[in-house]
Amino acid sequence: MAQSLHRMESVKDQAIVPLPVESWRPPPAAAMDAQAALENGRVLYCPALQFRLENNELRYLDASYSDARRKSIYIRADRAGLFGCDASEAEQRELLGLLKRFEASSMALLGALFPGYVEQMRAVGTSYRPRPTGTGDAALSWRKDDTRLHVDAFPSNPTQGLRILRVFSNIGTEPRIWRVGEPFERMAQHFLAKIPEPRPLLAKLLHTFGITKRTRSAYDHYMLYLHDLAKADLAYQRDSEQVTFAFPPASAWICFSDQVMHAAMSGQFMLEQTVHLPQAALAFPNESPLAVLERLTARKLL
Ligand SMILES: [Fe+2]
Repeated sequence: MAQSLHRMESVKDQAIVPLPVESWRPPPAAAMDAQAALENGRVLYCPALQFRLENNELRYLDASYSDARRKSIYIRADRAGLFGCDASEAEQRELLGLLKRFEASSMALLGALFPGYVEQMRAVGTSYRPRPTGTGDAALSWRKDDTRLHVDAFPSNPTQGLRILRVFSNIGTEPRIWRVGEPFERMAQHFLAKIPEPRPLLAKLLHTFGITKRTRSAYDHYMLYLHDLAKADLAYQRDSEQVTFAFPPASAWICFSDQVMHAAMSGQFMLEQTVHLPQAALAFPNESPLAVLERLTARKLL
């Protein structure tokens, strides 16, 4: 790939990259500069990309539709139905339709912008977060507190190297405030010495007993520790290089959330699409968390 890649020098000026798309189905045109920025760990911000609700859907801009125990209403590609929702059957059908439409729109957008991903990307879940973000997070365990900077990695759901690509849309009336932190490599260098050796036998047992969906690879082990160490370190949360950004109503943004250090500070009513993408689909595989971690540890992690 002959494209040049400009590494991020300043989080403040470069972590958020504007992308002037106005349609969820733009004419297919490879956006290689945008793809380079995305794979380099920037957030692609689409200020003019609104996801419109139908008139009958506007009433779902109401936190009371969400099940009090969950932070989102969601669908999963591997299970039929709608989860996390407190509503009548007819309303659940409409909400399911809304989430399905956001899934289709997000996949169309990614396919148009990044044709190289189309064959290999897979939608894994779509969520709607009707409750205010940030409020109440402090009452959660620090591990679940998403107002702390982190990269996404989930204890029960190892990806075995699949990338976590996410599309977000602010469908509310308030800005959604994020903090975005330093580049992945710098963050990994900061915490790497504190990460113990992977334990393959333990990983096998966790999978055998159904605690993890797949076997936790050495890569997943490092990612999970980076997630936890960053969230647990209040000095790092306060002092590491970061920028605060407000995604206004009717905007959208895209990032690899396993690579971008992010924290959701406030906002309400957001749609989110999660996509898995194999390493092989990347145009700049040397930028991925896997490649960075393999360089820093000087070993194969998958
Ligand atoms: Fe996250």
